[in-house]
Amino acid sequence: MGKIRIGLCGIGRAGWGMHLGEVALYPDDFEFKGACDTVPERMEAMGKRFPGCKAYPNYEDMINSPEIDLVVVAPPSKFHVEYAVKALDAGKYVLIEKPIGLNVAEAKILAEANKKYPGKLFCRHNRRFEEHFQYVKEIIDSGVLGRIHEIKLCHHSYSRRNDWQTLTSCGGGQLNNWGPHLIDQALQYLNYEVESLWADLQLVAATGDAEDHIKAVFRGKNGTVVDIEISGGVAYGMPICTVYGQYGSIQVIEEKKLKIKRLDLEKCSAPVPATEAVPPIKLGDYGDATKRDAKADRAVFDNVGGLVWIEETLDCTPANGATLNDTYKHIAAAIKKGVPFPIKFEEAFAVVEYTEKIRELAK
Ligand SMILES: NC(=O)c1ccc[n+]([C@@H]2O[C@H](COP(=O)([O-])OP(=O)(O)OC[C@H]3O[C@@H](n4cnc5c(N)ncnc54)[C@H](O)[C@@H]3O)[C@@H](O)[C@H]2O)c1
Repeated sequence: MGKIRIGLCGIGRAGWGMHLGEVALYPDDFEFKGACDTVPERMEAMGKRFPGCKAYPNYEDMINSPEIDLVVVAPPSKFHVEYAVKALDAGKYVLIEKPIGLNVAEAKILAEANKKYPGKLFCRHNRRFEEHFQYVKEIIDSGVLGRIHEIKLCHHSYSRRNDWQTLTSCGGGQLNNWGPHLIDQALQYLNYEVESLWADLQLVAATGDAEDHIKAVFRGKNGTVVDIEISGGVAYGMPICTVYGQYGSIQVIEEKKLKIKRLDLEKCSAPVPATEAVPPIKLGDYGDATKRDAKADRAVFDNVGGLVWIEETLDCTPANGATLNDTYKHIAAAIKKGVPFPIKFEEAFAVVEYTEKIRELAK
């Protein structure tokens, strides 16, 4: 098979701003042959950038064209399922942007089509391949932090956003926008086994009617709590990922850089069993008892026995080589070599199920 011929529907922030750059990484595998948008200048821009890329003002014409193999569905979210199903029915491979349904009812329609056309549908949960997510997961799986009691995932900003992504009539709101990314990562951390969920949605700074502040707390059957915050209403943002483990913590400080502080278990003395006896502290250790003294407080309330820490700042370089831009690499491998696409449809479907649960809980 030669190059996979792409028909791109939706030439916006995702279509133009992300897909073009990602496809450019695999020039031997893909070429743009069709562009569909409601704005003529955007289709013209595709034609100028990729000679031979035809404008299709009518979506049906593009999906029925024999010159297109893969339809990329990246218009506003409310069109995703309808457009993806139409392209599958037309016999095409389909890459559908997140969210893969505005609700479970829509996702079920897509599930039917996926069953009817196995191996044809790819769901773009691109943040599954994100360097820091993969690297943190590898560190957790290595066991150096022991049991993980909590993971915090944040996407914070302060924005008086006013586009369609803030309107419920368009399928907007941060739950459908950034929700799929962080819910997908949360479910991966919890092996899809969720014991309980708590959620809250608020509208803070955006000028539409959809939520721009989300808090969702998952408790996994493995005992790990995953705390998600997505917000356009936070002026002091928190780190994008923080992990608390039995033997230390991770803080992702930049998209591809993290700090890890963990016990050097070989050098630490063994924990001393708890006792009811009066702690063996000399009153003189409290410092000047007439004034509060933070240093002395720490000395008398903190750990008994020496803790030896290892602290490192690391570049997020997962051993599996994953990068945020891997979606098209996996699509080429799936179409050309039959390698299973790493994002299973059931996993993407579960994201929609939990999105809907969050919405119901927050009512
Ligand atoms: N995976 C990611 O990281 C990621 C990032 C950004 C956006 N997205 C997703 O991509 C989708 C598009 O978001 P965006 O921010 O690019 O929006 P956008 O508004 O920037 O772009 C949407 C484009 O679709 C066009 N359009 C509107 N209605 C159309 C129709 N009926 N048929 C064809 N084209 C139509 C618009 O003219 C515009 O060019 C959203 O569903 C969003 O969730 C995904």
